[in-house]
Amino acid sequence: MIYKRITLADVKKNDEFNALINRQQSYLEELGYTEHGARHVGYVSTVTANILRELGFDKRTIELGEITGWIHDIGNTFNRKFHGLTGGVLSYNVLVRMGMDPNEASCIANAVGNHEEEVGVASTPISAALQIADKSDAHRSRVNKKGYDEHDIHDRVNMSIKKNYVVVDKAKHIIRLVLLMKATSAPMEYLQIYLPRMVMCEKAANFLGYTFELVINGVLINHHRRASEIRFRENEKDVSPE
Ligand SMILES: [Fe+2]
Ligand SMILES: [Fe+2]
Repeated sequence: MIYKRITLADVKKNDEFNALINRQQSYLEELGYTEHGARHVGYVSTVTANILRELGFDKRTIELGEITGWIHDIGNTFNRKFHGLTGGVLSYNVLVRMGMDPNEASCIANAVGNHEEEVGVASTPISAALQIADKSDAHRSRVNKKGYDEHDIHDRVNMSIKKNYVVVDKAKHIIRLVLLMKATSAPMEYLQIYLPRMVMCEKAANFLGYTFELVINGVLINHHRRASEIRFRENEKDVSPE
């Protein structure tokens, strides 16, 4: 059987995936969730690929990571609940229909099916990179500006985040999520929402042989080290998109 080397460019041209991504976004927008459209999946696609690249994985693994990030939330088309699982089933079917090698499609499906913290466990590098990329995307640009509600903790936390980026420090084997928050929310509020996701990131980084660090406003949140030791360095490699 001859399979096609499906790339992100092919996936972006595919009508089924386009319809699914549009539907996931319009459904979640209607429900008042943060942005889950092209901005979010574009960020997750780029950061998943960049983490894999920084870790030294081969070109095809990076390409598959890029695809995985782009389609990881399509299960929301059916329902928010269990969207990782439904998205995994759906991803496999559409990708194989496009001509992808089932071995590759199953790897992507597995990562999609394991990206949510309720049931997700990383068992491949793509899955681990996807989890970190997805859970690192908290930012003010995800807030629906028209429906902004300062009494909603998700809106308040996301709106306060001016900058978010992921750093891969190969020398120290650290993957670091750096957040800059304004005083309109606080790290404690961030953790009320994101703690299980940050625990997932710790496990994902460990799977990759790395330590995960969460740094908010220059303070290391999840390890016992002094903040002075983790000041931003000029040459720090930021793998997030511009
Ligand atoms: Fe998701
Ligand atoms: Fe997501």
